[in-house]
Amino acid sequence: MKNRKIILSENEIPEYYLNISYYLKKYLGKLPDPPLNPATKKPVGPADLSAIFPMELIKQEVSLDKEIAIPEEVRDLYKLYRPTPLIRAYRLEKFLDTPAHIYYKYEGASPTGSHKINTTLAQAYYNKKEGVKTLIAETGAGQFGSALSLACNFFGLKCQIFMVKVSFEQKPYRKTVMRIYGADVFSSPTKFTQFGKKILEENPNTPGSLGIAISEALESVGKTEKAKYSLGSVLNHVLLHQTVIGQEAKKQMEKSGEYPDIVIGCVGGGSNFAGIAFPFLADKLKNKNKTRFVGVEPQSCPSLTRGKYKYDFGDTAKMTPLMKMYSLGSDFVPSPIHAGGLRYHGMAPLVSFLYHEKQMEAVAYDQKSIFQAGIDFARTEGIIAAPESCHAIKAAIDEAIKAKAEGKKKVILFNLSGHGLLDLNGYDKFLQNTL
Ligand SMILES: Cc1ncc(COP(=O)(O)O)c(C=O)c1O
Repeated sequence: MKNRKIILSENEIPEYYLNISYYLKKYLGKLPDPPLNPATKKPVGPADLSAIFPMELIKQEVSLDKEIAIPEEVRDLYKLYRPTPLIRAYRLEKFLDTPAHIYYKYEGASPTGSHKINTTLAQAYYNKKEGVKTLIAETGAGQFGSALSLACNFFGLKCQIFMVKVSFEQKPYRKTVMRIYGADVFSSPTKFTQFGKKILEENPNTPGSLGIAISEALESVGKTEKAKYSLGSVLNHVLLHQTVIGQEAKKQMEKSGEYPDIVIGCVGGGSNFAGIAFPFLADKLKNKNKTRFVGVEPQSCPSLTRGKYKYDFGDTAKMTPLMKMYSLGSDFVPSPIHAGGLRYHGMAPLVSFLYHEKQMEAVAYDQKSIFQAGIDFARTEGIIAAPESCHAIKAAIDEAIKAKAEGKKKVILFNLSGHGLLDLNGYDKFLQNTL
């Protein structure tokens, strides 16, 4: 009987995070341009960041070490759900009648339902160690907020979440999840911050955006004692923490006796893509193999495929350092699609750099086509995927169809970053043709 799942044991959970910057420097001889202080236009130093991040995370942000050891406490908590399974999508392959072999890494198997907890456990740990009492963050669809709420609960930290208004309304049970774990959750823009008030005065019916919610979270950090900020994507240290996904996937692919020709991840701020891709990309930089990497984004927020590569702010109020990234402009408010986690105007500087250097490709899909892919996947493989993850499914399906047309056996790997059991509103609208 053929194996569908490739499972690792708990002692195969990675012992370190893989730092792609080391490989870029060593094999490409270049690194992304550094973040700049908007006032001086000089590279930001630790002092610029220490008001919002603990020192260990600032160190990780600029580290060029090959590996960063995962603290034992964090590894122990990873055992609650890691290693996550790698699954061969035989039924989807049959449905598509493709010679391609399709594998997916299932991060929806985590307690909060997505990959985001890989970084929140690490972030809560380092903050706790440095005496922080409260973590404050924004969330789009609520996956990062749920993951941070649980991590804060585990480490005895208070947690405040600014949830983008459109998702707050589309996904009401996400806020219940965060409240179950003990967090305070607000619909952003709120009336509690100066910036939120300003946005509401200008446009009371705004759907909100990640850029606005980040500004509110940062403002709230400034007003709260012993509080720091936590970001769910974009920054180097967040992408670093997600590399546990790709490291496990590499071991699992080895056990399957195959190596991916194509690695696919949806891109919001870039951490999910980085998680699955960077360990394989490190191989490619080292061995010059031909693996392709594809980031998948929504057509309504096409940072990579339509954005400009420039220095821009990470938030709408222009409070963050300037980052060199593909951006649609920091005041861009995307349409209220259900993939709330992909509604970010910019892209991680590391992912932007890789795209600019042609080390990866990007593709954008409209909302209807990704829900159709999600339904085909649910009906063949059983899992109802988050709308964000449906972008990766759609790209994997398209690559499998291309492989059939070319008569080639391609090995396709994608990250199924989260389940969609709290996203049924979007599926419902799709099924009723009212999206
Ligand atoms: C299920 C899921 N997948 C992917 C993403 C995008 O993640 P990233 O910003 O890390 O690219 C999100 C973001 O919230 C998400 O919730």
